[in-house]
Amino acid sequence: MAEETLLTILLENSNEFISGEEMSRRLSISRTAVWKQINKLRSLGYEFEAVSNKGYRILMKPDTLDKLTLTNALNTKIMGSNLEIMMSTVSTQEEARQRAELDAPEGTLIIAEEQTGGKGRMGRKWFSPSGKGIWMSLILRPQQALEYTSQLTLLTGVAVCRAIRKTTKLQVGIKWPNDILLNQRKISGILLESTIEDKVVRYCIAGIGISVNVDSDQYPEEIRDIATSLKIANGAPVDRTMLIAAVLEEFETLYSLYNEEGFVPIASLWEALSVTINHEVVINTAQGRREGIAVGLDPSGALLVDIGMGNVVKVISGDVVLK
Ligand code: BTN
Repeated sequence: MAEETLLTILLENSNEFISGEEMSRRLSISRTAVWKQINKLRSLGYEFEAVSNKGYRILMKPDTLDKLTLTNALNTKIMGSNLEIMMSTVSTQEEARQRAELDAPEGTLIIAEEQTGGKGRMGRKWFSPSGKGIWMSLILRPQQALEYTSQLTLLTGVAVCRAIRKTTKLQVGIKWPNDILLNQRKISGILLESTIEDKVVRYCIAGIGISVNVDSDQYPEEIRDIATSLKIANGAPVDRTMLIAAVLEEFETLYSLYNEEGFVPIASLWEALSVTINHEVVINTAQGRREGIAVGLDPSGALLVDIGMGNVVKVISGDVVLK
């Protein structure tokens, strides 16, 4: 018989409260040691209800990612065929970059349960708490010039948006260039970084962050009003393994469509999922503030904004605010 631990006692009795005294007796440890173990489990993502005079009851086990389960769930040929799951790292972008430099093949995927220095666009931080989201970076080796890599950013956004819609039925949309929003709050972001040599792309790292099971009180103050998670929107936790598999499957389908037919079909899919097109927008770019109506994408993936009097400007990068 497997050794009885505090966790097995709580899991086997998940419908009832187990007192600290009973656990200390069954495990032959002190009440303080019981309390310390509960806190340790909490830090690993377990949630308990604690009621005085009754004891503890387990509410939620962390949904930890494991390679075998994920590999079995994957339905792809290339994307994720080489994958690694890390407990904690500074940023999966950096981990993927190191492996790309060592010739890791296209489709190599690095996932982390936690990022201690997750990176967002424009030098921002990306909140990546342990066990609560999908923080992953995919190595791509596209045969193209640097100016087209923003098309891959949009393609990744379409893949993530479609995967979330399929897995959760939540009607998420894309805000240009690649924020995935639900009810105007951000649920996911994409950071595509490219390394070039002699104007040729050596590799791109598509970094995908999805706030899956983050609770509202976990968000840092500064993003609490603008961020949300699938769990908050869905009212129940979402299985991260199934969602990763869905993202990779969507990505692989779109990437081969892109390699065969170019950006045009991807742009149509992006426009259909966009919450930006046909909306009044304010865009803060490096060149200053632009205001107008977003009317479409140009062939490179830049946003076309009608600023009035028949003038349509091309926005290559910047932050969009929907009016
Ligand atoms: C954004 O600002 O919207 C982009 C966020 C990208 C976050 C992901 S999480 C996995 C990968 N590793 C990082 O450090 N960043 C990206």
